[in-house]
Amino acid sequence: MSRHADRSIIVTGAAGAIGFATCEILAREGARLMMVDINAPRLNERATQLRASGARVETCAADCGEETEVRRYAAETVKAFGRIDGFFNNAGVEGALAPTHEYDVAEFDRLMRVNLRGVFLGLRHVLPDMVRRGSGAVVNMASIGSERGLAGACAYNATKHGVVGLTRTAASEVAQKGVRVNCVMPGVIETPLLLEVIEQLFPGNAQHGLEKLGQVATLNRCGKPEEVGNVVSFLLSDEASYVNGAQWEIDGGALATIRNDI
Ligand SMILES: NC(=O)c1ccc[n+]([C@@H]2O[C@H](COP(=O)([O-])OP(=O)(O)OC[C@H]3O[C@@H](n4cnc5c(N)ncnc54)[C@H](O)[C@@H]3O)[C@@H](O)[C@H]2O)c1
Repeated sequence: MSRHADRSIIVTGAAGAIGFATCEILAREGARLMMVDINAPRLNERATQLRASGARVETCAADCGEETEVRRYAAETVKAFGRIDGFFNNAGVEGALAPTHEYDVAEFDRLMRVNLRGVFLGLRHVLPDMVRRGSGAVVNMASIGSERGLAGACAYNATKHGVVGLTRTAASEVAQKGVRVNCVMPGVIETPLLLEVIEQLFPGNAQHGLEKLGQVATLNRCGKPEEVGNVVSFLLSDEASYVNGAQWEIDGGALATIRNDI
């Protein structure tokens, strides 16, 4: 319960599957939460749900790709809780699927804006409070697509490669100021975002799609949002005090091998 006692933590994409599962874990572990998401109605529903369990929760409806809104969620956190101890820079979109040579340019720009610019803006406006106070921990949301190509998803793939670069650079810049920056690389996690992809790949056959994509992992199944949240909570905690600039795989073993048994 006390791992994050009295800590103030921002979670973006907090109305989504992985974001909310992580909020539930962090709240159980004592954190005060600033939940950020562009989807205001769902954000409010999720916050009400968490408050009912006794958690201290504030919300900020914001577009993570828009600098004034990112500045606002950082400032509102400091106003509400006095400081920012932890930051899960998680909001992201999957986007349309098409081969690179046919990919819609506006869609490419949209993904860059949310998944990459949004992560940069979060670092740009949250790190100053941590650096000023000489402590804090950040976890950025990457993907196993940060380490491999993803046929049909050039924009998503490029943004998630970029998140690793932002993580490594920021980690090296703030390490000696008492702040750690890491990223997580989830594999195939069972969420609405994944179900959208499955609908494009296996129209009308979600169960088959889940089984098929689960085979990417040597554990032979898709992951659950809370299996990501538990690792994020660890990386934000003092138990991870010597982990910095890392890309933490949460993929059921997918990146560890080339499967030859399916
Ligand atoms: N589901 C997976 O298999 C998987 C695997 C690897 C990485 N990820 C990453 O995990 C993160 C969370 O994804 P999820 O699976 O929980 O999906 P999700 O769609 O359930 O959650 C994403 C949340 O981000 C919010 N969001 C989107 N654009 C935003 C913006 N501009 N500003 C603020 N909020 C915005 C959405 O409203 C949503 O609530 C994403 O960055 C995704 O790329 C997911």
